[in-house]
Amino acid sequence: MKCRICQHEIAPFMSFGRMPIANGFLTPEQFKDEYFFELNPAFCDRCLTFQLEEQPAPEAMFHDHYAFFSRTSKFMITHFQEYAEWVCDHHLTGDGAGLFVVEIGSNDGIMLENFAKHGIGHLGVEPSANVAEEARKYGVNTLVRFFNPDTAADIVTEYGQADALIAANVMCHIPDLNGIAKGAELLLKPNGVLIFEDPYLGAMIEKTSYDQIYDEHVFIFSALAVANIFAPYGFELIDLLPQHTHGGSMRYVLSRKGARPVTASVTEIMATEKSAGLHLPETYQKFRKNCEISKADLVSILKREKAAGRRVVGYGATSKSTTILNYCGIGPDLIEYISDTTPIKQHKFTPGMHIPVKPYQDFSENYPDTALLFAWNHQAEIMEKEKAFSAQGGKWIVHVPEVKVLG
Ligand code: SAH
Ligand code: TMP
Ligand code: ZN
Repeated sequence: MKCRICQHEIAPFMSFGRMPIANGFLTPEQFKDEYFFELNPAFCDRCLTFQLEEQPAPEAMFHDHYAFFSRTSKFMITHFQEYAEWVCDHHLTGDGAGLFVVEIGSNDGIMLENFAKHGIGHLGVEPSANVAEEARKYGVNTLVRFFNPDTAADIVTEYGQADALIAANVMCHIPDLNGIAKGAELLLKPNGVLIFEDPYLGAMIEKTSYDQIYDEHVFIFSALAVANIFAPYGFELIDLLPQHTHGGSMRYVLSRKGARPVTASVTEIMATEKSAGLHLPETYQKFRKNCEISKADLVSILKREKAAGRRVVGYGATSKSTTILNYCGIGPDLIEYISDTTPIKQHKFTPGMHIPVKPYQDFSENYPDTALLFAWNHQAEIMEKEKAFSAQGGKWIVHVPEVKVLG
């Protein structure tokens, strides 16, 4: 295969096997036509980008019935309020009325709502029509399109150049990142800023949180990779801010080279990445072994629970859980159902392994013995909410940073 960024010839370092669309919750009539692809991660030792060999077409993942709504987590609502305030305080200067902020992957408006409220000029670019429709309810202007150089050119024609191009949990979804960089080059004012955050490679390697790897996440970034990806388009990293969200993320801030001061965190974090070996192929061989250990441990705990006659249900039908379930071969024989608060997922079946997804009431009205926390990235929020389950003897299985039973 060729590296998606620099075209260097590379090879996958492991395979998670045959995978369905991670957010493709389905009905029994759809089982026979379910789409599968090979989930094979690779590392490019030239541009240092972690990537997938194969990815389903974006239109197969992002459409008018996309299942992920950002507002399902209260913590994330607060997170985006803080993110927006931080952008305003640190990266937007001048009169609010003259400013223009564009967000890629604005989903249900969870971030841009905070700009709309203050009358700041904004535009969301969001191809999934159903989530974009939700954003309109919060006064968020949304263009239902994929962001690419053509979209950027059209925005400039209609609205002019932007002060900031912002994003969260979407850059890592976009296979043509070179197109995003070109689009940013067109869209941003000379002193404009490009800010995005995504699940962080350093956290994934440290915690063996291999469930970050699924169809949508065609890249998992490090600062070393991001610097290399955007440099050919005249951008440089000017700041890096580690985040707790999604099990460990990184916020990347870039500007045109020389346009803005570079903070010390850029060299510091890049040095930390080198000491963690994120630039070395052998790190990924070790990660592969850790994934195999994690899989064996999880399957053995679930089999033990089953043998003991204990009821196990999944908590949160996350996109991440699709990788765990399919890689580990965990089906309805080991997990009775998965509880999820998202209406569009309920009464459907999980991709590939076809475990039923049920509303949260099924969980709260008839507690199982054990809950497997697929939404581990929301652990603090969920533990707070589920004190009663734990108090009456309910146990939790979590699989990061290692597989263990809590409670
Ligand atoms: N920013 C939100 C949503 C993340 S999910 C959050 O952090 O919660 C990723 C979103 O990006 C989806 O809503 C998807 O439809 C959208 N998306 C995918 N590819 C895109 C592209 N090329 N341009 C703009 N949005 C895209
Ligand atoms: P995410 O990990 O991609 O953010 O998805 C989280 C999923 O978990 C989403 O489908 C909503 C679900 N969820 C619950 O069912 N209950 C909860 O308390 C939380 C926080 C999430
Ligand atoms: Zn490369």
